[in-house]
Amino acid sequence: MANYVVVGMQWGDEGKGKIIDVLAARADYVVRYQGGNNAGHTVVVRGEKFALHLLPSGIVSGKTKCIIGPGVVIDPAVLLGEMKELVARGGSVDNLFISDRAHIVMPWHVKMDELREEFSEGRIGTTKRGIGPCYADKITRIGIRAVDFLQMDVFAKKLKIALDEKNEIFTKIYNQPPLSYEKILADYTEYAAALRDKIIDSIEEINKAIEEDKIVLFEGAQAMMLDITYGTYPYVTSSSPTSGGVTTGAGVAPGKISKCIGVMKAYTTRVGDGPFVTELTGELGERLRTVGGEYGVTTGRARRCGWLDLVVGKYAANINGLSDIVLTKIDVLSGLDTIKLCTGYEIDGKIHHAFPASTESLYHAKPVYEEFPGWKEDISGITEYEDLPAACKTYVKRIEEFLRCRVSIISVGPDRVQNILLHEIF
Ligand code: GDP
Ligand code: IMO
Ligand code: MG
Repeated sequence: MANYVVVGMQWGDEGKGKIIDVLAARADYVVRYQGGNNAGHTVVVRGEKFALHLLPSGIVSGKTKCIIGPGVVIDPAVLLGEMKELVARGGSVDNLFISDRAHIVMPWHVKMDELREEFSEGRIGTTKRGIGPCYADKITRIGIRAVDFLQMDVFAKKLKIALDEKNEIFTKIYNQPPLSYEKILADYTEYAAALRDKIIDSIEEINKAIEEDKIVLFEGAQAMMLDITYGTYPYVTSSSPTSGGVTTGAGVAPGKISKCIGVMKAYTTRVGDGPFVTELTGELGERLRTVGGEYGVTTGRARRCGWLDLVVGKYAANINGLSDIVLTKIDVLSGLDTIKLCTGYEIDGKIHHAFPASTESLYHAKPVYEEFPGWKEDISGITEYEDLPAACKTYVKRIEEFLRCRVSIISVGPDRVQNILLHEIF
């Protein structure tokens, strides 16, 4: 059995897309299992950059079958736009398939997301892509699924029921004009026709591949701290990016998953609102943002930056059951005199090593740091661990020791080839 989950260990944007692309060279399938086009995954091949939102990152390699799984929410207009762009750049979508059980993002989801962000005091800082409202409709059981694109009479009925309810909310609560049934039906009839051939029973396909000992990679979007249950609630996304999400989001039994690979940036970033204990708001934060190019792939927002937080790292290692860590963007730390690692939180005079549930208490948590000397060398061209500066190796060793998990790949630049391999993952 050879099925691997790749998850983000922080607040997203760890470099999951890059790593999926690297591992895809030896895989047969790449499967997204949650999230939607709130994700922005970057793959860089010989300087050419691909920003992927719904397309699994394996698509760039052109070697794997790519499946958008049952747990994903799909905005069909965005997906079709991405497919068109990829083909225009010489790529292929022949091997792309969509689960018939995936839910469809409708215009009212995006509108509701925008309205809540604009008018609610409890704004989250979402990507405004309609993700939360789409998952809410799924759970409320009035969602529309990809399978409905195969029976447009059923689609039309479901559209009427859901839209009538949403228009009551838009007009009576938000004082907004209603959305047009005819326009949505016409637009979505077009999307359905364009996507129909891609819709499959992905459960059959994936489980058959597993039986045949094919290598399947499950691509997580978002990350540990954005998980609906375990993240910094309510400043989270509306799905389960952690490894448990694979079983419900891809239709694969827990025992069929061989390993979970955590992707962790050598420092921390976060987009959107919510607590961030190791945040650096001054010059140092600005330096990480500039050198690391920390601007959102989906919304273009500046990412908040800070030191690596191993309280978060430990939490991610435990909940996901990590076998390997891929440490990314360590090249961004080159040139700093001192580097800090957070190993605990001080809250109301007490030291905590476990990640607390109370989001409120995190706002006044003080990070407990270990300090390390930095290194001056540019490490972005290094391919052998031995060639890394001693100070850099010390930093990596401390991370491994603290998290009790091996670092198997060190990523030293955005390009597919900028990696140091320490241990074969598969
Ligand atoms: P994802 O959402 O986890 O796939 O990550 P993003 O693509 O949103 O953000 C990661 C950013 O860092 C992208 O611009 C990548 O091209 C870039 N990147 C990935 N790994 C490295 C690395 O090791 N070093 C540097 N400097 N950039 C990297
Ligand atoms: P990738 O896959 C970073 C954040 C948003 C916001 C919160 C909720 O590229 O790592 P949502 O639109 O999901 O309801 O927003 O989650 N967020 C991400 N942050 N990377 C992502 O994806 C994210 N997807 C959502 O900024 O704070
Ligand atoms: Mg991203």
